[in-house]
Amino acid sequence: MSTEQFLDAIASARILAIESSCDDTSAAVLQGNRVLSNVAASQEVHEQFGGVVPELASREHQRQIVPVVRAALAAASTDLTRIDAIAYTRGPGLLGSLLVGASFSKGLSLALNKPLIEVHHMHAHIYAHFIDDQRNIGGVPQFPFLCLTVSGGHTQLVLLRSPSDMQVIGSTIDDAAGEAFDKVAKLFGLPYPGGPLIDSHARDGDPKRFALPKPKVNGLDFSFSGFKTAVLYFLRKAVADDADFIEKHLADLCASVQAVIVDILIEKFEHAIRQTGVKSIALSGGVSANSALRSAVIDLGEKNRLHVHIPAFEYCTDNAAMVGMAGMFKYVNADWGALSAAPNARLSF
Ligand code: KG4
Ligand code: ZN
Repeated sequence: MSTEQFLDAIASARILAIESSCDDTSAAVLQGNRVLSNVAASQEVHEQFGGVVPELASREHQRQIVPVVRAALAAASTDLTRIDAIAYTRGPGLLGSLLVGASFSKGLSLALNKPLIEVHHMHAHIYAHFIDDQRNIGGVPQFPFLCLTVSGGHTQLVLLRSPSDMQVIGSTIDDAAGEAFDKVAKLFGLPYPGGPLIDSHARDGDPKRFALPKPKVNGLDFSFSGFKTAVLYFLRKAVADDADFIEKHLADLCASVQAVIVDILIEKFEHAIRQTGVKSIALSGGVSANSALRSAVIDLGEKNRLHVHIPAFEYCTDNAAMVGMAGMFKYVNADWGALSAAPNARLSF
């Protein structure tokens, strides 16, 4: 089925989607590949702990899920009777968080007698590119395309030959790119999640001010844990000489760290483009909100004469609209989920 045939086939379908894999409770209503509403409540409770606390995350989801779903239905000017299916994130993610969205979706499916659709969180980040929204750079991609998915939990290079043929051709052997941003930000004394803060401080900094080492990994895989350790040792020495070092140089430090992380990602992306010979590339996941990474991917596309696809910020970080979009790919094949399917924290790709 071509992309055009697929879009025709789903044009009148209406899906309610629910995402609760980590620390964002989100609900969306999609009609075909148009987003009628996309509501998200993020959880500030984790900021003080320097990372997501799983038990607190599931409690927050429990508290927020009903108001968030109500708000999504109201914003879409629809009600549950007009929904054709319910899509939810089955995994991967935090089990306690996934359980809230899964149980809620199953309850709704049973009560309304409407089909359930199980969505893989990482597929959803990729399928976000099929959303019809003029803020998305590059519009809906044509197959085949190569997608770099960078989030707090994953860093993957995925080759999509068709909607049902996805192959992971490179991934991180340790930390994810978002984790690298967040862990280094923590070393700088910034609150969680530090990625967006590094991005904003970096705007006033010099990316060449501090020379930080780039890890060497063979093939298309990534590694970030050695980089974090290198930053830690660098800071220990610098702070021993000057206790105010971080405060004085925060912008340059953020710019230098960001430049290395972006460089690691772009080097492998370019390598994968050569290896696969694709004409279209895409960026997805929470870290694709990073301004330096977005510009670097656009430059990479220009340099290699490729079509570049980057979703609007709203569809980069965790959101239910992408889950609804992924759900449409299953809806069109009547690939329904089972009430007996348990959420899976390590759901395989
Ligand atoms: O996809 P996402 O919302 O959640 C996961 O599935 O992990 O990604 C969250 C990650 C966090 O590590 C956060 O720091 C990072 O995305 N992030 C950023 C930016 N915005 C979000 N990292 C760097 N620069 C940004 N502007
Ligand atoms: Zn995510």
